[in-house]
Amino acid sequence: MTVEGADGRRYLDCLSGAGTLALGHNHPVVLEAIRRVLDSGAPLHVLDLATPVKDDFTTELFDSLPPEFARDARIQFCGPAGTDAVEAALKLVRTATGRGGLLAFTGAYHGMTAGALAAGGDTAVRPGLAGTVQQPVRLPYPYDYRCPFGVGGREAARLSTHWTTALLDDPKSGIEPPAGMIVEAVQGEGGVIPAPDDWLRELRQLTAARGIPLIVDEVQTGVGRTGRLWAVEHSGILPDVLVVSKAVGGSLPLSAIVYRAELDVWAPGAHAGTFRGNQLAMAAGAATLRHVREQRLPARAAALGERLLTRLRGLAAELPAIGDVRGRGLMLGVELVDTTAEPDPRGTLPAAPGLAAAVRAQALRRGLIVELGGRHSSVVRLLPPLTMTDDQAEAVFERLAESIRAASAAALPPSARARPRGQGRSQAQVPPQAQAQAQPQAQAQAQARDALG
Ligand SMILES: Cc1ncc(COP(=O)(O)O)c(C=O)c1O
Repeated sequence: MTVEGADGRRYLDCLSGAGTLALGHNHPVVLEAIRRVLDSGAPLHVLDLATPVKDDFTTELFDSLPPEFARDARIQFCGPAGTDAVEAALKLVRTATGRGGLLAFTGAYHGMTAGALAAGGDTAVRPGLAGTVQQPVRLPYPYDYRCPFGVGGREAARLSTHWTTALLDDPKSGIEPPAGMIVEAVQGEGGVIPAPDDWLRELRQLTAARGIPLIVDEVQTGVGRTGRLWAVEHSGILPDVLVVSKAVGGSLPLSAIVYRAELDVWAPGAHAGTFRGNQLAMAAGAATLRHVREQRLPARAAALGERLLTRLRGLAAELPAIGDVRGRGLMLGVELVDTTAEPDPRGTLPAAPGLAAAVRAQALRRGLIVELGGRHSSVVRLLPPLTMTDDQAEAVFERLAESIRAASAAALPPSARARPRGQGRSQAQVPPQAQAQAQPQAQAQAQARDALG
């Protein structure tokens, strides 16, 4: 999981190509699969032609899916980015239902092309788009820490489904019957927010009962990331359309939708696109899926993720700048908050984007690459490879803990640095902030050179 920088230092990479590298950088299984295709002399790009490599990929993918879903499903390969597969999913359900509208969630991220952008929750990245694409009806995603209803917990999930049902069933709610609903089982870019399993099951029931196709976007959660091969397995729901990309191409660009046969009413060529037949990506993807399954990496991700969550929660008890720690499997988030600001009525402090950026910079100094996401980019995100060793996981935790200590100590006003904030924290629990702050750069660099990979 390590990469060497231009500075000659080795970094532990918890960004993993935005979650693409399920097996880490240049895993031998992936390299061997790519080499085999190259050495075979087979064509590298074939558009829609059937090939043994494509057959192998499709078989491996379908074998990895819940059998009740895979049994009668269809596949459409898409232009190689996840966002194009989202566009295909939207087009598919619109064609099949003859309707235009869409249900999408607060905090969602589905990509950067027009339809996917409209389905996403981030208005800052789509200036000028209004009016060019049909806007979805926005529904509240149960984000416990910053609950859209101000209540949190199971009640928030219940209110979310209640609101959705009311909108759909009230003849005067002002919304047309939609073509579909799109949801992430764990919001990644939204700030690592796992959806409660019960909530997903209720969504599945209420959409099925009203003939609304359910699109589950597993671009980021797929291929073992959340502790199951596919995140839908946690709740047991079966989607109507599954969107896959990122890790499914084994580090090379590949995306597809897998969908129920009844929806397959669009004409051949309805979702064209040149780069839909990359044989190297299919070979790398098949090898990755096989390796993840054979080595039981989802279970490994679940165990490692639990361990890291426990350690990070311990750290949160020590450092008030950590507002929340959450995740599923090896999709983890640490939400940083502004301890100098006033909390809201639930006691939640405002986001601290500056602090999050400082933590990322401190982490880089210590040889750790992390990603930011979430509301106001205040969530430090970890997406390490599923192959991460115990020692690497420990090093990730240590480096991140030191980075948060150092950055949060530096962010506090001088008068507050000597004492811990928050209730019930004794002096003995005060993080060694001064020590972390004074840690010489040379020491951090030496630490970063540890070849842990
Ligand atoms: C859930 C989800 N859907 C779609 C996308 C878009 O994928 P791409 O960046 O390959 O277009 C992403 C990317 O991060 C994602 O996380």
